[in-house]
Amino acid sequence: MSTIAPSSTRTAPAVTWDVDDGIATVVLDLKSQPVNVISRAVKDEFLACFAALGDDARVRAVAFFSGKADNFIAGADIEEFVKLGSAAEAERLAADGQEMLEGVARFPKPIAVGIHGACLGGGFEFALACHYRVATDHPKTQIGLPEVQLGILPAAGGCQRLPRLVGARAGLDMILAGKTERAAKAFRLGMVDELVPPAILAEITLAAARRMAGGWRPRRKRPGGFVGFLLDGNPLGRRLVFRMARKQVLERTAGNYPAPPAALEAVAYGLRHGMAEGLRREAQLFGQLAVTDVSRKLVQIFFATNQLKKDPGVANAPPAVRVHRLGIIGSGFMGSGIAGTAVAQAEVDVRMKDADLGRVAQGTLAARAILDDRLKRRRITKYEYARLVALLSGSDTYAGFGRAELTIEAVFEDLAVKQEVLREVAQVLPQDGVFASNTSTIPITRIAEAAHDPERVIGMHFFSPVAKMPLLEVIPGARTSPQTISTAVAFGRRLGKTVIVVQDSPGFWVNRILAPYPNEVGHLLAEGASIEDIDSMAVRFGFPVGQVTLLDEVGLDVAVKVAGVMQEAYGDHIIPAPGSGLAALVKAGRLGRKSGRGFYIYKGGKKRGVDESVYGLLGVHPNGGPRPAEILQRLLLGMVNEAARALGEGVVRNPRDGDIGAIFGFGFPPFRGGPLRYADDLGAERVVADLERLAERHGVRFTPCEVLQEHARQGTKFYS
Ligand SMILES: NC(=O)c1ccc[n+]([C@@H]2O[C@H](COP(=O)([O-])OP(=O)(O)OC[C@H]3O[C@@H](n4cnc5c(N)ncnc54)[C@H](O)[C@@H]3O)[C@@H](O)[C@H]2O)c1
Repeated sequence: MSTIAPSSTRTAPAVTWDVDDGIATVVLDLKSQPVNVISRAVKDEFLACFAALGDDARVRAVAFFSGKADNFIAGADIEEFVKLGSAAEAERLAADGQEMLEGVARFPKPIAVGIHGACLGGGFEFALACHYRVATDHPKTQIGLPEVQLGILPAAGGCQRLPRLVGARAGLDMILAGKTERAAKAFRLGMVDELVPPAILAEITLAAARRMAGGWRPRRKRPGGFVGFLLDGNPLGRRLVFRMARKQVLERTAGNYPAPPAALEAVAYGLRHGMAEGLRREAQLFGQLAVTDVSRKLVQIFFATNQLKKDPGVANAPPAVRVHRLGIIGSGFMGSGIAGTAVAQAEVDVRMKDADLGRVAQGTLAARAILDDRLKRRRITKYEYARLVALLSGSDTYAGFGRAELTIEAVFEDLAVKQEVLREVAQVLPQDGVFASNTSTIPITRIAEAAHDPERVIGMHFFSPVAKMPLLEVIPGARTSPQTISTAVAFGRRLGKTVIVVQDSPGFWVNRILAPYPNEVGHLLAEGASIEDIDSMAVRFGFPVGQVTLLDEVGLDVAVKVAGVMQEAYGDHIIPAPGSGLAALVKAGRLGRKSGRGFYIYKGGKKRGVDESVYGLLGVHPNGGPRPAEILQRLLLGMVNEAARALGEGVVRNPRDGDIGAIFGFGFPPFRGGPLRYADDLGAERVVADLERLAERHGVRFTPCEVLQEHARQGTKFYS
């Protein structure tokens, strides 16, 4: 086996190779890290390795593999990327990477690459530079260019090589959305040449290297058939593709994210002016993007989510109990969503219980719909679908709950009902079985009063729709044991959720910081603002939907209930607008999207427009109202103030969890970093001054909380 002398910072070499019968088998394995990433040190080893292989007369072709069990190359080293001080430095880094991969692409001896596990970003750009790509059909093999999600673009030739390989249409689709695809889709798109079971990856890759050593070269047809030819194969079609992509990017980013339009420019420029010029432009644009505030914020979120993935949620956590069977009580909207997600994501055996068999059947169908959707989108095969569907079962008794390591209740939002089901199920649960409540408003400690064993009772607050919403709040009660916490956190993570552990206080974190919303919307409408004005300001700021639409999505009945709880708990500053407000809409049967009518009208699942009769029901008249900038300021600062207050009370453990909760819980614009990061950017002094001005005009609901005042006095920030 050959190696390169290790760099001073690493003990073992990352790149090693053997030569056998004219074929060099190269293996990348960063021994000190769980996954392979491409850093400067790795690049040096790559360069030295390829130089040696170039000189070695025995070598006629190369087969390249990862030494990691389930990872190919996760991307470029982000730690290195964040240290970049200037656009010029970033551009140089990209140009270096491009040069290395140009060397790979032009390497005189053909290179076949065997891909198993994540092959992302710089890892896929490397694979693109190689001459033949074989991938395993394993679900862990995910291939793509997610760079725009970090506010940058693929800058090691990805914006050039991918569109040339798969056509502009498919290339742009991947790059502009920062998509990753399972290997089967990547194969269909032409991103890889062969799809094989993991057991024969090495054999097939070596065979390809051998064939190429004998002079064979892959002949690739442009994927996409006749339509592909029309759109990608001629300048006119291509112009149409770019025009459509530009329109979509503008719609999706609302001008807030510079990376997708820059990536579009890099692709277009390269196809117009050739590879060399395209690479130059790609590096230049990368340099500009790398130092933007948007990219910094997105990278911070990336790091925060990664930290949370390793965070057991409690200090000195005992190991989590592994859940094999999940019990669900209440197979309604949330219960069925949790059941379907648990089967699809964690492949656990799920047993549902509801009051009667009709509801259980309905719940099973709703849970199954999550699997149907995955099958339709080819995320799972028919075989996997059949296997997963068989994991779902239910009845109107607790039969089968005796083996459930975890049971989640999602029955009506009523303390007595929740305590009742806790008492019932406790009779059959295994000795160390955990009971979790999906309550939105009831204190976990109160529910746990019905338990013999409150150490094993906890809150798991999912968001709707469960299959899509990425956040889970885990709420320990006063007596919940550390192991119960780590079990709930670990299971939440298996469901693919980002998990934050929050205090057992009214509204927990997300509903707490949203608490000022419905009231402020009421105040604004009463002052003559229109529904469209309120929503459009929020969307312009970067929220996926405006505050009024959010109320419709949550359900006005749910919002009224939560608002009541919040007002009771925080009545000193959560102050509803005069009049009957949301309750009047609920009374008139307008529950939001789910009933086809709320503030807006919904037809065939689509939002149609504002229901003008709402103004009459609320007794208000849109007549201009406050200035748009003031609308936004009142909504935002109300939330920032509440977030700071709740953080001060210890509702979340740190600003990181708080910001992640806001971003993943209700779509606070990621490029602004979350409400606390946003407050830091404005500066506490300014936030306090603005709040004081608003308090003077509108009352105590805007009085700045003590935490903000303290930061303003000391000139400190939430993030040091
Ligand atoms: N809807 C949301 O957006 C949302 C979000 C987060 C949390 N939650 C919480 O989730 C819980 C359920 O809400 P939902 O929207 O799914 O309600 P839902 O009305 O759709 O479902 C409740 C289900 O519980 C069943 N049920 C009631 N009593 C029962 C009992 N004794 N035994 C077995 N089943 C029983 C009902 O038959 C019904 O099927 C509530 O606590 C709610 O606050 C809801």
